Amino acid sequence: MSGSSGGATRIDGERLMGRLDELAQIGAIAGTHGNCRLALTDEDRAGRDLVCTWMADLGLEITIDGLGNVVACTEPGGVADSVMMGSHIDTVATGGRYDGNLGVLAGLEVIESVLASGHMPSRPLSVAYFTDEEGSRFAPDMLGSLAYVGGMALEEALKITDREGVSVGGELDRIGYRGSAPVPGTVPYAYMELHIEQGPVLEFHGIQIGVVEGVQGISWTEVTLRGQSNHAGTTPMPLRRDAGLAACRIAGEVREMAHNIGDSQVGTVGSISLVPNLVNVIAGSATMTVDLRNTSEGMLQHAEARLDEIVARIAEGEHLAAAMRRTARFEPIDFHPSVIDLVERCAAEASLTHRRLPSGAGHDAQMLARVCPTGMIFVPSFDGVSHNPAEYTAPEDIEAGANLLADVVWRLANGDIDGVLSSGADAASDEMAR
Ligand code: GLV
Ligand code: MN
Ligand code: MN
Repeated sequence: MSGSSGGATRIDGERLMGRLDELAQIGAIAGTHGNCRLALTDEDRAGRDLVCTWMADLGLEITIDGLGNVVACTEPGGVADSVMMGSHIDTVATGGRYDGNLGVLAGLEVIESVLASGHMPSRPLSVAYFTDEEGSRFAPDMLGSLAYVGGMALEEALKITDREGVSVGGELDRIGYRGSAPVPGTVPYAYMELHIEQGPVLEFHGIQIGVVEGVQGISWTEVTLRGQSNHAGTTPMPLRRDAGLAACRIAGEVREMAHNIGDSQVGTVGSISLVPNLVNVIAGSATMTVDLRNTSEGMLQHAEARLDEIVARIAEGEHLAAAMRRTARFEPIDFHPSVIDLVERCAAEASLTHRRLPSGAGHDAQMLARVCPTGMIFVPSFDGVSHNPAEYTAPEDIEAGANLLADVVWRLANGDIDGVLSSGADAASDEMAR
């Protein structure tokens, strides 16, 4: 139930679950709980339309920028002074219904509950969904929020193409979401994102809330290997130039390398495409992706250098030409210390079990953290599973996370954290100016 007792408004958990369910009907993967709403597809458009309808029903002022980022605010022209909530509503092709969608719909729910309570905080509230957070159709990930904070020029973002050569700009025009608001966008006073953990830590420890300290660095590389396509039966083993074999060896060594570096280092080869990809033909070329992540920038650079060495050595051994292209690169970021403290304090006051943790996944919040005080709240993921239709978070965890979001946002919007945040905000803008 929603309501207010003079402080933060409590959200309506059933309404939030209802909206999550309704949005999940768009691009539903048959026979599963999951979704396929790749960025800027027809399904993404239908999801965008539905969320915009809900924003408009609340009387919010909606702006759409040149990259399709959508921001809705309780006050016309009020975004710069607002506490912004948000995330993304695009999914990976084999996605769940909570990743990203929760942050957007919980933000909408907080706004609806606050409006219904009749008690407005001092600052306006806004809720945003950013374009192509997943990056699985158009790399890099967090594309919309990256451009929103000035990390990539709009013209450059519009030219990015998917594997079929279709551009971001063309798809935005086709689905009617190339808006007129400027990119970079308006920097809010502060930004908060509620998200599922997408990992096993909270569930393993039986904890309700993750107080997110920051996001690890991300490095994506596309590796292309060219050898010679030839007959599988007639080509003696020593005379082969097999791009498929080299791709598999690289995948094996990436895993070994991540294991040897240890700590937070992870390494994933999530995609290998072989040409011609036939049973009786040696693969003449291979295109593969390598995703490396680490909470330490220095260690991430070390992993990248190791990858260069692995690819060069294996390609040479198989007499292949190799090319490497970096498709995403983000340094690790720390969220604002005062916002982290505030999330922790609000969780403790609400008697929610909580622990601090870094985020393994990328988030729009890591982009907003470049320009304004930013924080994130995690809720548990069943079995730690995400980017999978089986992704699940219990309704009571969602409600607890959304109520915590409402509390944190209420305090931020009333400037109610002992003035610590305002000095931190100055530090954040000094950081940007450097
Ligand atoms: C985005 O979801 C990522 O972490 O790859
Ligand atoms: Mn997400
Ligand atoms: Mn995701």
